[in-house]
Amino acid sequence: MDVKKLVSEMTLEEKASFVSGGDFWHSQGIQRLGIPAVMLTDGPCGLRKQEGETDHLGLNDSVKAISYPTGSCVACSFDRDLIRESGEALGEEAQSEQIGVLLGPAVNIKRSPLCGRNFEYFSEDPYLAGELAAAYINGVQSKNVGTSIKHFACNSQEHRRMSSSSEVDERTLREIYFPAFEKAVKQAQPWTVMCSYNRINGTYSDVNKWMLTDVLRKEWGFEGFVVSDWGAVSDRPTGVAAGMDLEMPGNGSFTTPKVLAALKDGSLSEADLDACCERILTVLYKYLENAKPDTVFDYEGHHEKARQMAAESMVLLKNEDGILPLKAGQKVAFLGRFAETPRFQGGGSSHVNSYKVTSALEAAQGLNVTYAPGYTFEQSEPDQKLIAEAAETAKAADVAVVFVGITENLESEGFDRKDLQLSPGHKELIEAVAAANPNTVVVVQCGGCVEMPWVDRVKGLLYEYLGGEAVGSATVDLLTGKVNPSGKLAETFPLRLEDNPSYLWYQGEGDKTEYREGIFVGYRYYDKVKRDVLFPFGYGLSYTTFAYSDLRLDKAQMKDTETLTVTVKVKNTGSVAGKEIVQLYVVNAKGQVIRPEKELKGFEKVALAPGEEKEVSFTLDKRAFAYYNTQAHDWIAESGEYAVAIGRNSRDLVLCAPVKVESTAVIRRTFDLNSTFGDIMADPKGAAIIGQMMQQMGAGAQAEENTGSAMSAEAMQAMLAYMPLRGLAMMGGDQVKPEMLDQLLAALNG
Ligand code: BGC
Repeated sequence: MDVKKLVSEMTLEEKASFVSGGDFWHSQGIQRLGIPAVMLTDGPCGLRKQEGETDHLGLNDSVKAISYPTGSCVACSFDRDLIRESGEALGEEAQSEQIGVLLGPAVNIKRSPLCGRNFEYFSEDPYLAGELAAAYINGVQSKNVGTSIKHFACNSQEHRRMSSSSEVDERTLREIYFPAFEKAVKQAQPWTVMCSYNRINGTYSDVNKWMLTDVLRKEWGFEGFVVSDWGAVSDRPTGVAAGMDLEMPGNGSFTTPKVLAALKDGSLSEADLDACCERILTVLYKYLENAKPDTVFDYEGHHEKARQMAAESMVLLKNEDGILPLKAGQKVAFLGRFAETPRFQGGGSSHVNSYKVTSALEAAQGLNVTYAPGYTFEQSEPDQKLIAEAAETAKAADVAVVFVGITENLESEGFDRKDLQLSPGHKELIEAVAAANPNTVVVVQCGGCVEMPWVDRVKGLLYEYLGGEAVGSATVDLLTGKVNPSGKLAETFPLRLEDNPSYLWYQGEGDKTEYREGIFVGYRYYDKVKRDVLFPFGYGLSYTTFAYSDLRLDKAQMKDTETLTVTVKVKNTGSVAGKEIVQLYVVNAKGQVIRPEKELKGFEKVALAPGEEKEVSFTLDKRAFAYYNTQAHDWIAESGEYAVAIGRNSRDLVLCAPVKVESTAVIRRTFDLNSTFGDIMADPKGAAIIGQMMQQMGAGAQAEENTGSAMSAEAMQAMLAYMPLRGLAMMGGDQVKPEMLDQLLAALNG
C-alpha cells in the first residue's frame, strides 16, 4: 500500500479524525478510501476480544481464549525461547480472531511490591524485562500480528495512575525505567508502543515529545506508531505534535474539533498530522496485507503450552529434607480452596475468559489425595472451624500441601496493594497445618510477593504467582517431579515491606511521586546495603544440583569499543534431568560514580541430563559496564577494574573474574577557579597542564616550607585533591599573579 499517497487523498477532516480510534477496540475505518477498521485488543497473557459490551477494566465478557501465566510468573522462567513460543501461540490466536495488534507485553519495572499491577509486569530488573519483552514481541509478530509494549513509561503504581506525576531523574529513567523499552525497540521493533497514563516530571506521557519523538524514534529508531493507553489523552493537538499517533478508545467527537482548531490557528502543523496518519496506516496495512482470518488453532495444544509455561516458571523456594517431589504411594492432603478453585490470572484489562481451568485437585486424580477447603473466599476473618478440619485432614496424611495466596479483591489493576500479607485466614491455615503435620508444603498463588513469617515452620514452598488456566496441572507436574522446577525469582522478596527501597516515598504526596531511591531498585539496593532478604533476586531450587567451573574471559583488559566473550561450564551433578538459569552479573568498578554493586547483564537457561555438562557463552559490550552520564547524555563505561561474576542468584556468586575496562569517551569539562585539583588532575589534559605548572613552581619544596612539616607525598596529594584552583594564590605566594590564573583557565578550557 502506498501510504503516502493514501494520506494525500485524505481530507483535513478525515486526517484529524483518523488519529482517534473508530470505537473502543478499533482504529477508524474510512469507507470512501477503502480503509478498513482494525482491531486492537488485550493482551498481554491471553486474548480479551470483546464482542458485546466493551470496557478496559475486565468487567464485561470476552470470547473464550487461552489464559497463559501472567508476566510475573513467566518472567521466572528466564526463558527467551519459551516466551517467544508463547508469543507465537498468541499471534496465531490473534490471527484467528482477526486482531491486528495485541496490547502487550507490559514491562514496567517493579519499583514496589505494592503495585497492584505487578502481576502483569516482568521484573525489577530492566535487562531481564527487556530481553523477555523482545522475545515476546518477536513471537507474536512472527505471525504478522502487531504488539504494543506498554506502558511507556514509569507506570509503576496504580495509585492515582491517571493523574500522578512520576518524578524521576534522568539517569534513573535511562538506567532503570527506559531500558526494557529501548531493548525491545532495538531488538524486536514492536509495531506499536503504548504511552502510559501518568505524567513524568510533570508532563503527561501522551504529550511528551522528548520521550515519544526524541528518545523513542530518533534515538532508538522506533518505526511503528504510538497508541495512547485507554483514555490517556490529556491534550490531543499537543499529542499529535509530540508523536502520539493514535488515541484510544475513539473519542473523535471530543478531540477531532480540537485538532482541526489547532491546525487552523497554526499551533499544529499539517505535516505532524500527516506523519501520525502515515505511521498508523503503515502498521495497519502490514497486518491487513497478510491477514490470515482462516487461521485455526488447536485449543488443547495451546492449553498444554500454557501448562508447560507455568511448570517452567513456578519457583521452588524451599525443599527441606527433600520433601518434594512427593513419593509414590504417599498419602497427601491438599488444604485450601485454591487447590479446588485456583487463582490463576489477574484482574483488570488482562482478564481472559479462559478456555478451561484445571485445578490441582482435578489434576491430582489418580494420586492418593484428601482435601479440606480451610477458608472461604467470602469471609474477612479466619474461619476457625474450616481451619480445624483442615488440620485434622493434614494430620492423617504423610504430606500436607497448603494452597494459599491473595484473592483478587486485594490485588488488581486500578489500585495498589495495602500490604504484603496473605488473604485473611491463609496464614492461620498454614500455622495450623504445620502444627498438625511436620511435613508441610506451601503453594502460593498471587501476583506479587508476600511476607512469610511462617516460612521456618514449613518444609516445602512452591511459589506459583498466577499460573494461567493450566495452573493445576503444572502444580501437580512440579509436586510429583514429572517436571523438575527451574524457575527463579525475577524480583527480590524482602523480609518486610518496610525494607523495600521505595517504601518511604511510594505513592507520593497527592499527585507527586518522587522516585527518590533513584537507580537503587530491587537487588541494586538490597545488595548494595547488604540488607537481609527473604529470597534474593534470581533465587530458585531444583530437584537436582548444578556445579559451575571454568569461567573464562577472552581478555583481561579491553577498550570500551571492544566486546568481551565470557564462557563458563555448568554441570548437572544430581540424579535427575533439570534446567539451570546461568546468571551473569557485572560487578561494577569503584570509580567516581555511585553505582549498584552488581547488575545482571546476561542469562541463559540450560537443560542438562544427569552428569551432563555444557559450556555457556556470553558476549558483553560497553553497555554492560556503562552508566548513563547526564552531562554527556550518553552511556559511559568508566575506566577501571570490573569483575564478571556467575551467580546462582544475586547473593550467591560462585565464580568471578576481573576485567580492566578502558574508556575511550572524552567528556569535555569546563573548569573555573572553584574546580578542585583532584578533578582537574583526573582529566588527562588537565593533569598535563597542572603537572607542568607545578614543576615550574617547584611546588613540592614550597609546600613543605609552607606547612613547616615534611608531609608525605601521599598526604600532600590527598590534601591538594580537594583544594580549589583559587587556593593557588594562597599557596604560591608572590609567585602567583591573577593573570596567571586566567591563563591557566584559558589553557585548561581551550
Ligand atoms: C490498561 C492497558 C490496557 C487498556 C485496554 C488500560 O486500562 O492500562 O494496559 O491495554 O486498558 O484494555
